[in-house]
Amino acid sequence: MCSRKLNSSDGEWCRGKVALVTGATSGIGREISKLLAASGAKVLLCGRNEQAMASVSAEMAAEGAPAIETFICDFSDSASVEKLADNIGSRYSVDILVNNAGFGHIGTFDETPEDTIISMQEVNISAVVTLTRKFLPFMLKKSGGGILNVGSIASFFSIPGSALYCATKHFIIAFTDALHEEAARFGVHVTGVYPGNTATGFAARATGGKIKAWESAMDPAVVAREALHGLRDNKIRVIPGYTNKIKVLAAALMPLRLRLKKLYAGFVEMKK
Ligand SMILES: NC(=O)c1ccc[n+]([C@@H]2O[C@H](COP(=O)([O-])OP(=O)(O)OC[C@H]3O[C@@H](n4cnc5c(N)ncnc54)[C@H](OP(=O)(O)O)[C@@H]3O)[C@@H](O)[C@H]2O)c1
Repeated sequence: MCSRKLNSSDGEWCRGKVALVTGATSGIGREISKLLAASGAKVLLCGRNEQAMASVSAEMAAEGAPAIETFICDFSDSASVEKLADNIGSRYSVDILVNNAGFGHIGTFDETPEDTIISMQEVNISAVVTLTRKFLPFMLKKSGGGILNVGSIASFFSIPGSALYCATKHFIIAFTDALHEEAARFGVHVTGVYPGNTATGFAARATGGKIKAWESAMDPAVVAREALHGLRDNKIRVIPGYTNKIKVLAAALMPLRLRLKKLYAGFVEMKK
């Protein structure tokens, strides 16, 4: 079971801070938002689906979250992300930024619809860059805050049938590792969390509803807690769960050609 509160030391690190969480309407982002609020942060929830946002904010308010505010924004529209960043930046000094919003698509690249290709780059990469560019300079001046970027175990190896998604998540690991070192000297934590299959809306969306949920998926609340522990401790990379750690290690040890063939066979099986 995942306790809603982190623990006293997390509480100390989060208390009184302003935390902006993207993709807060569902899954991992929703759980991260609840944990941050329970640990005393003021949470700025950002999502696209208004109904889901109303539900998560009502749930958090009922649980006694001290202060939350909601922002609706479609990250596939870069101008809207810029506007959101300016709006929040003019009103808040963001101490914690959680770049969590993202989605995948299961299918070969040639079969992937053009609008999916464009919006995946906007949501999974461009919005992360825009928000980091906006809020990191203030964090460096103030110190004590941090950025949590949500990658995937697909940040460590590429999966045929998910080429662009994997590439966007490879971006996350490259960006986060380097920022970690740049920010550390200013007392700002930058951490990447790299989940494997997690029980959220991700699978249904990535497969167009064909697969409702991954098998043996982790609880998003557990992923959220491990991620925030990692951020508090200024870890560079967090891979939640032993199975995921083993998958990443096994992928690194397996010859590349063999690994790609095996993963492609898995994709073909999934498509049947
Ligand atoms: N679940 C997994 O198996 C898994 C594994 C590895 C990594 N991840 C990563 O974990 C992160 C969170 O995903 P999740 O598993 O929690 O899936 P989820 O339940 O589908 O949540 C995704 C979140 O991203 C938001 N989002 C998607 N497209 C958006 C857009 N165009 N504009 C604004 N917000 C948008 C969604 O908002 P709306 O609902 O409001 O559209 C939702 O809040 C993603 O970066 C994903 O790549 C997930």
